[in-house]
Amino acid sequence: MAFLRLQLRVFFFCAFQGKSFGAQHNAYGETVFTTSITSYPDSLTDPSYQGQLLTFTTPLMGNYGIPDNRTPGSAREHPMDVDIGCFLESKNVQAAGVIVSELCERFSHFQAVESLASWCARHNVPGIQGVDTRQLTTLLRNQGSTLGAILVGEDADHVPSPDAFIDPMEENLVAKVSVKSPQTFQPKGGAANARAHIALMDFGMKGNILRSLLRNNVSVTVVPWNYDFNKARDQFDGLFLSNGPGNPASIMQSVDIVRRAISEWDRPIFGICMGHQIIGLAAGIRAYRMKFGNRGHNQPVLALGSGNMRVKPGRVYITSQNHGYALAYNEEGEDAWPQGWAPWFINANDWSIEGIVRSGALESGSKQAPVWGVQFHPEHAGGPEDTNPLFDDYIEQVVQYKALREGKSASA
Ligand SMILES: *[C@@H]1O[C@H](CO)[C@@H](O)[C@H](O)[C@H]1NC(C)=O
Repeated sequence: MAFLRLQLRVFFFCAFQGKSFGAQHNAYGETVFTTSITSYPDSLTDPSYQGQLLTFTTPLMGNYGIPDNRTPGSAREHPMDVDIGCFLESKNVQAAGVIVSELCERFSHFQAVESLASWCARHNVPGIQGVDTRQLTTLLRNQGSTLGAILVGEDADHVPSPDAFIDPMEENLVAKVSVKSPQTFQPKGGAANARAHIALMDFGMKGNILRSLLRNNVSVTVVPWNYDFNKARDQFDGLFLSNGPGNPASIMQSVDIVRRAISEWDRPIFGICMGHQIIGLAAGIRAYRMKFGNRGHNQPVLALGSGNMRVKPGRVYITSQNHGYALAYNEEGEDAWPQGWAPWFINANDWSIEGIVRSGALESGSKQAPVWGVQFHPEHAGGPEDTNPLFDDYIEQVVQYKALREGKSASA
């Protein structure tokens, strides 16, 4: 037996009884929900879910098991055998706990090697099944972000003290999941086949971001969130800012590094999810905590500009998302955007900001290197592929700027 207990506004608690699976210990965190129907192995290994109790709104979970992350041979196979593996977003289960309605114990898939329950147990992450996730999701939508606890065994009967609930967003979660020292990856064919060299600042990077870059035949150096990038920047042709967990304002050190790179270093910079928020903060825009965030593989975003790329303004793209913070936007007043910056995409459900672009990059013949970010995940594992070409666009810009620089220095 297990209980999911939630902290409601002012001294109320609410509890869902269920059956425990996975690790047999308690877990505390922020309770969130995702509407994704498939790809639970990808979601659970996404470092952006650090500190969160993840509810799947889809009623049946686990039916295709968990693949062996080291098995090559799929379309998502990494060109090189790197330690992030072939399928999943990281080596560990990152969510603090898992909440499902019905857990499927007998899985079936040609790549599956174990069940969701045994995988969670192996990674020491507790889960609860038998929860009415419809009722829970309604509650989370009405109340907004809610702290919760999965309590198992003897503890299940006891209501924890209000102090026991912890808000992971008050910690620097990025420091927990970011790499500790720079690490370089080469594309298939080695350094000789690399068209450019990208620095990938790791705030809690999903493995598929690295795989998507390498597939474009570039070398990638993954650097820590607080890496002194500006000291080393001239060896790189572009800067890529990854996704990550928590509040972007908890890593102002990264914001300062990126602000300096934007103003002094004339090379393409692209950010995803938290990387996009860091670009916004560096530009002087505020980020706020959303009521319940956007998590799922079916978030519609409307493109407002092309940014000189394949994106078609006025078109709605379906995207994969996982975030609890967003960039604030208003036509005027405190949240008016600074000059030189424009929204690039907006969410067609809740009108939150989904992309940012340095507006110089929108003008053809612009002399300013492009700087853009998107709140959603163009690398989509596993979700819609609508916005996947954003990676190709980014690499093309990086290669063009590199050629321009080399042409200049050759003629000088
Ligand atoms: C990457 O390099 C391989 C091998 O040289 C080549 O076959 C492939 O077309 C290249 N892909 C891109 C996107 O440049």
